[in-house]
Amino acid sequence: MSARKLKSVATKPVFWVLLAFLGSLAFLIILYSEIKPDKKTIKNDPKPAPVHRSLSSQQEDYDEDLIILYNRVPKTGSTSFVNIAYDLCKTNQFHVLHINITSNMHVLSIPNQVNFVRNMTNWDEMKPALYHGHMAFLDFSKFRVKKKPIYINLVRKPLDRLVSYYYFLRYGDNYRPNLVRKKAGNRITFDECVQKKQPDCDPKNMWLQIPFFCGHAAECWKPGSEWALNQAKLNLLNEYFLVGVTEQMEDFIYLLELSFPRIFKGFQNHYIHSNKSHLRQTSIKIPPKDETIKKIQQSKIWQMETELYEFALEQFEFNKKKMFTPDNAKHIQKFMYEKIRPK
Ligand SMILES: *[C@@H]1O[C@H](CO)[C@@H](O)[C@H](O)[C@H]1NC(C)=O
Ligand SMILES: *[C@@H]1O[C@H](CO)[C@@H](O)[C@H](O)[C@H]1NC(C)=O
Ligand SMILES: *[C@@H]1O[C@H](CO)[C@@H](O)[C@H](O)[C@H]1NC(C)=O
Repeated sequence: MSARKLKSVATKPVFWVLLAFLGSLAFLIILYSEIKPDKKTIKNDPKPAPVHRSLSSQQEDYDEDLIILYNRVPKTGSTSFVNIAYDLCKTNQFHVLHINITSNMHVLSIPNQVNFVRNMTNWDEMKPALYHGHMAFLDFSKFRVKKKPIYINLVRKPLDRLVSYYYFLRYGDNYRPNLVRKKAGNRITFDECVQKKQPDCDPKNMWLQIPFFCGHAAECWKPGSEWALNQAKLNLLNEYFLVGVTEQMEDFIYLLELSFPRIFKGFQNHYIHSNKSHLRQTSIKIPPKDETIKKIQQSKIWQMETELYEFALEQFEFNKKKMFTPDNAKHIQKFMYEKIRPK
């Protein structure tokens, strides 16, 4: 074939169509030979898993993964509550763990924060669990862990708590009666202490529930900080599942039992019917005189702590009220789905 003739063929569109056809045929043959072995292995496999099964294995087991974190404030009646957990943890098959921080410090160091957060959220053998300890609120979202615990807490009237703590340090309680407390032998009453303006009854000692709810920021621990009070309120609403008041412990337990029966099943019954051996009482407690109370109430710290207490109380009453239908407190609120489409 002369070069001229070839050139004339090449300029014809038919030539290019044919070339394209052969090219794609060769490509398909190569592709098929690549795919073929794969096809075989698929055929030999057992039935592929149905889509819904792989989905359900990804679904969370909320109950078995449950972690409740109770960062208890000292002298708020927390021991009574925790003791129910110790009594029932075997029956209900969950774990109770006390967080013991060196010399009762309430703020964790930075490395301890990482270790604690990772350990607790990863420790599967301990799930489900109730962790408790005298630890200020710690924000788990800083640490990029997948599953955060559920926070609960109790608050108590600030003066009651202070007086309780004052006598507890002097006389101990019925829980560990033989333990010699820090201020044992000191017989000054709370009234006398206030009169003499001694440090143990200084209203500054009431600055405790605010920093516990506020958390690990330096500002939280400055007595009288408005910022700390606001932060405590925000955390109480946004980060805590439920905050009860010591004066209404039974209702607190009841709400928890209905919400998380996996852990709290039978707690209310146990609280009512056990012979109260779990109740911890400060051995001697002299109620303060009216003039003492008036003096304390003048302090800014008392006023701010009381503001937090009342804020928590209002929210707790609200939560209790919403449990039931408005007309008849005997019916528990329910919800259901309807108008589900497409059919
Ligand atoms: C915490 O641990 C320390 C050191 O082991 C121990 O002395 C202390 O009694 C523990 N605290 C509690 C409340 O068990
Ligand atoms: C958490 O800490 C405990 C005690 O130090 C340890 O026994 C346990 O293995 C740790 N768990 C994880 C998941 O790191
Ligand atoms: C009540 O407490 C006492 C002493 O702690 C115990 O021996 C007794 O079995 C308890 N009774 C009931 C009904 O739990």
